Amino acid sequence: MPVFPAVDPIPLPAPVWLLKLLETVTLALHFVAVEMLLGGLLIAAFLSFFRGFPHALVTSRALARRLTIVMTFVINLGVPPLLFAQVLYGRALYTSSVLIGLYWIALVPTLMLTYWLLYRFSARLEADKPAWWVGLLAWLGAGSVARLLSTNMTLMLRPEAWHSMYAASAMGRYLPSGDPTLTPRWLLMLAGGIFISGLWLIYLSGRSTFTAEQKQFVARLGGSLTAVFGVLYLLAGMWAMRVQPQAVKAGLAGHPLYRFAGMAGEAWLAVVALAIVIGLIAGVGRLATAWLSWTGVLLGVLVELAFTVCRDGVRDLTLLSKGFNVWDRVVVTNWSVVGLFLVLFVAGVGVIAWLVSVVARAQKVMEGTA
Ligand code: HEM
Repeated sequence: MPVFPAVDPIPLPAPVWLLKLLETVTLALHFVAVEMLLGGLLIAAFLSFFRGFPHALVTSRALARRLTIVMTFVINLGVPPLLFAQVLYGRALYTSSVLIGLYWIALVPTLMLTYWLLYRFSARLEADKPAWWVGLLAWLGAGSVARLLSTNMTLMLRPEAWHSMYAASAMGRYLPSGDPTLTPRWLLMLAGGIFISGLWLIYLSGRSTFTAEQKQFVARLGGSLTAVFGVLYLLAGMWAMRVQPQAVKAGLAGHPLYRFAGMAGEAWLAVVALAIVIGLIAGVGRLATAWLSWTGVLLGVLVELAFTVCRDGVRDLTLLSKGFNVWDRVVVTNWSVVGLFLVLFVAGVGVIAWLVSVVARAQKVMEGTA
């Protein structure tokens, strides 16, 4: 009996390469926002513990104010890759989602609770009330969502575990066990959270809404976190790669199609290493300059882009070794719909750019202002 469900009645409405390109771009942006949320929240909660130190409080408030907006990006940039992933990998992804059904559904209330806690965290900071525990609760919510996503994204690659899970509970009452790739993958995202948020702080240190002293504090903190967690992020990445099956490692090194994903993995290593150097410059020198700010942004986006391309290769090669070839699909492209989609996509990006320019031109309020 074939392992993957055979039912796939509707052909793909666009070429596989186009769907994969759109999935990669939107997922990389989702990951940038996710990492800002996971890391920024933990840093803000930690800093809010030291309310007696004015710089710590100002930085904590500055992060918390932005985190509610970051969350909108996490969610809105999560939807497109979810749609593309379902179209491309539905037979694997739907199956794994059903097998952990109860937990998968619980994702929605957990997200809503996390969102509400984020607002409470920020409001308590603004009101000068103890807020660290609310921030920590919100982080536990976000970390659980991340764990569940890692669980599903790894279970979809393990058809060998599906039958016994379904036999144990058709309602999806159990989480899978025995996958050596799950924990390193989740820890990679968590370490990446503080690393990317370090880069975010380096960016913030260049903002004119901070005083000169605050800028130095933010640059030092951001730089140090980038450097230290950059190293941990690299180690977690190497661990996550080491536990991959031999077929995946060999494919990344030599498969004609996926060599590029292997090279993206090497690019990821190089960009993280460069970011560590930038972190050291900002942290040790307490430097808050425009060029460091924008270098931080650029490196953050490049890291996630390289990571996403490599991760995509790992998924495809794993599935390929189990008989699922994502390229082997019937495609009947409806070019007028694809064209309309692309026009709307570009228009949407244009509207976002305009909104960002409006925010950039808005009157600035100093961060220390309650
Ligand atoms: C607190 C909110 C969220 C967090 C912390 C979060 C975190 C993550 C993490 C850690 C992964 C990578 C999992 C792995 O491969 O190991 C991931 C992937 C993903 N997330 Fe999110 N996420 C959040 C919200 C959302 C939402 C609301 C959606 C959709 C509506 C979404 C859609 C996705 C999709 C589709 C993927 C995987 C896509 C693929 O592999 O092709 N996420 N997310």
